[in-house]
Amino acid sequence: MASIELSGVSRAFGEVKAVSELSLHVADGEFLVLLGPSGAGKTTTLRLVAGLERPDAGRVRMDGHDVTGSLPASRDCAFVFQQYSLYPHLSVFDNLAFPLRSPLRRSEPAEVKRRVEEVAALLHIEAKLARRATELSGGEMQRVAIGRALVRRPRVFLMDEPLSSLDAQLREELRVELRRLQRSTGATVIYVTHDHVEATTMADRIGILERGVLQQLGTPLEVYGDPRTLPVAQRLGSPAINVLPAQWFEGRTPAGTAHVAIRPEDVRLSPEGEAAGFRVIECSLVKHQLVAERQGIEVHARVMLDQPLAPGSPARFGFPAERCLFFDAAGRRLAGAAHPGGL
Ligand SMILES: Nc1ncnc2c1ncn2[C@@H]1O[C@H](COP(=O)(O)OP(=O)(O)OP(=O)(O)O)[C@@H](O)[C@H]1O
Ligand SMILES: [Mg+2]
Repeated sequence: MASIELSGVSRAFGEVKAVSELSLHVADGEFLVLLGPSGAGKTTTLRLVAGLERPDAGRVRMDGHDVTGSLPASRDCAFVFQQYSLYPHLSVFDNLAFPLRSPLRRSEPAEVKRRVEEVAALLHIEAKLARRATELSGGEMQRVAIGRALVRRPRVFLMDEPLSSLDAQLREELRVELRRLQRSTGATVIYVTHDHVEATTMADRIGILERGVLQQLGTPLEVYGDPRTLPVAQRLGSPAINVLPAQWFEGRTPAGTAHVAIRPEDVRLSPEGEAAGFRVIECSLVKHQLVAERQGIEVHARVMLDQPLAPGSPARFGFPAERCLFFDAAGRRLAGAAHPGGL
């Protein structure tokens, strides 16, 4: 396995800056998730690491060696794509064996069999080895695609939304399995997704990419609890963080505050005082979710209730000052705390 270092890497396609001055260190054995919306530069970043794309500027290093100019084969990265790219006419066994039988490797047949069976067992597809790839379900095909990356024991795994074409339950199962596999093999993984749940549950660290720029890099807890910008705060969490106008708090916020943001689990439903004048829109006891509105702005709260609140009925919220995050008009986080008297 290997560590990966990008320093000041940029790649443009005509006018589009797909990746801008990206600096990133992925430790040996780390599971790093790149999270960002469509067009953020996630796939381009993986391709730059794999050597499928050359940077216009900056260096790529693996285990401290500069590989910026080296060919993909010498970098030894396994790529798992969003769409399973199996050979349809081949059996599952032959699909898995394919990378081992390449002219570069030419492993012994007994060794090929042993490695294929080992990987098939890890991914629970032993029973399907004789089947043709086309006779598998979507989830099984994607397991085979992952297995094909695993079987050759590359230095680095690059996974580009490998689970996004699967249904929710299977995605969750494979998420857990992939993470277990990664831990047991000590693999270095860069995993791309635009699913924040996937990012927070799988990552050692998350890098948030927007328009080719790395916005923040940290553990899921750091990025969730201590976001540096409003877009980063909004990227993680479901329901999304509440964004409230500073005017609601009448000068009790730090100077320059334009937005006050608070997570749904931090909003209190108060029987009296504090922020009144909300109307209930929706209330779900099962999801512990209450949505209410004031002046056209919705507030989502995660609360435990014995009785549902009827839509249209009044509600009062509390926004504990120590749980509020303050942002200026440009979306930058303000360091200051709330007025000692609270919000
Ligand atoms: N080969 C290319 N030629 C021209 N433009 C490209 C090329 N590859 C990527 N781009 C552009 O670079 C930007 C980043 O693309 P990239 O594929 O890295 O985004 P992404 O984060 O993977 O998005 P998605 O979530 O949709 O897969 C986009 O604006 C895209 O149109
Ligand atoms: Mg992509």
